[in-house]
Amino acid sequence: MAPTDKVAASRPEALQVANFSPTDLPDLTGKTVVVTGANGFIGSRAAISLATAGADIVLMCRNLQRGEMVLERVKEVGPAGTPVLIPLNLAHPAGIRESAAQLADLREKVDVLINNAGVMGIMHTETADGHELHFAVNHLGHFALTGLLLPLLHRAAAARVITHGSIDHHDAQLDLADVSYKKRKYSGMGAYSQSKLANMLFAAELARRFEQAGWAALSVAAHPGSVGTDRYKTVMPGPFNIRQYFRYVMMSFANDVEESDYSLLYAAGMPDVRNGDYLGPRQLGGIRGPVAYADRSKESADPALAAELWDKSVELTGVDYAALAKS
Ligand SMILES: NC(=O)c1ccc[n+]([C@@H]2O[C@H](COP(=O)([O-])OP(=O)(O)OC[C@H]3O[C@@H](n4cnc5c(N)ncnc54)[C@H](OP(=O)(O)O)[C@@H]3O)[C@@H](O)[C@H]2O)c1
Repeated sequence: MAPTDKVAASRPEALQVANFSPTDLPDLTGKTVVVTGANGFIGSRAAISLATAGADIVLMCRNLQRGEMVLERVKEVGPAGTPVLIPLNLAHPAGIRESAAQLADLREKVDVLINNAGVMGIMHTETADGHELHFAVNHLGHFALTGLLLPLLHRAAAARVITHGSIDHHDAQLDLADVSYKKRKYSGMGAYSQSKLANMLFAAELARRFEQAGWAALSVAAHPGSVGTDRYKTVMPGPFNIRQYFRYVMMSFANDVEESDYSLLYAAGMPDVRNGDYLGPRQLGGIRGPVAYADRSKESADPALAAELWDKSVELTGVDYAALAKS
């Protein structure tokens, strides 16, 4: 049985803290937390909350101007020290390597890596390598970054890798023979959903590989519900399936923006989180509510599909996670 199945089979009824808020976080002094897309809506909130809990924050951002603004806020609320901002463009493989190297120059270890950055529902776009942009940024970029940061994660006592999923993963069709929509009809939300299913499969497979390698590290997926952030401004019009259409109608009941980072925060800091967990709100089909054990799709819990995606991701990124095999 794969670890995520074991986790689901053995998991308690409920998380230890039923109505979690950032004041429930333990003291995170001494923990280095890296947040991708830290200038974005949810990423910036998470970075500021974790700094408030005492963590040493590394912001990884594409938009450095907005990143600087978040850095200033982190400095105001966080521990005396030197939070840093590192440029990161997840669509540029060579740049990801440079960003990871820069981080390795600045920090000995990474306790928590939050793979948060993402694009959603945009028009068909390809990276210079010819990969569809949702798949490239949301999945491949984070796959590469995590693999490149393994040595730093291994130096932490019990590192956590948190990958931002979405309830949209339930609607995904992952076609490993055509991840970049060269042959299929493209839709923005279809490509987004595919990338979010990839995020879920990656988190589950990483959990399995951490366990196999005997690492004390945790790989956890989290989702925020539906939150009316800037991402919705870029969503290309339909076609939406009935469930997606229902969610758009339900946006008037969306999760409170103040609570949009709660699942990430729980996953990053709370002691009862286990390898392979998936956390997020569950009310109204996962749109809102307190952080809980979230419902994953059957496909996202398929270890064979996860292993196939892993191999494909190694092939497309050239990042082979050798550090896991060596230990
Ligand atoms: N909001 C929701 O309802 C919702 C629901 C489910 C899941 N999520 C997930 O939450 C995460 C954050 O979303 P959000 O709502 O906070 O949206 P957001 O405010 O648009 O933030 C997205 C972040 O991703 C960054 N990003 C985009 N492309 C990038 C690239 N090529 N390289 C590096 N960074 C890049 C953006 O940077 P720039 O400023 O440079 O573009 C921004 O910092 C995403 O993974 C999303 O899928 C959100």
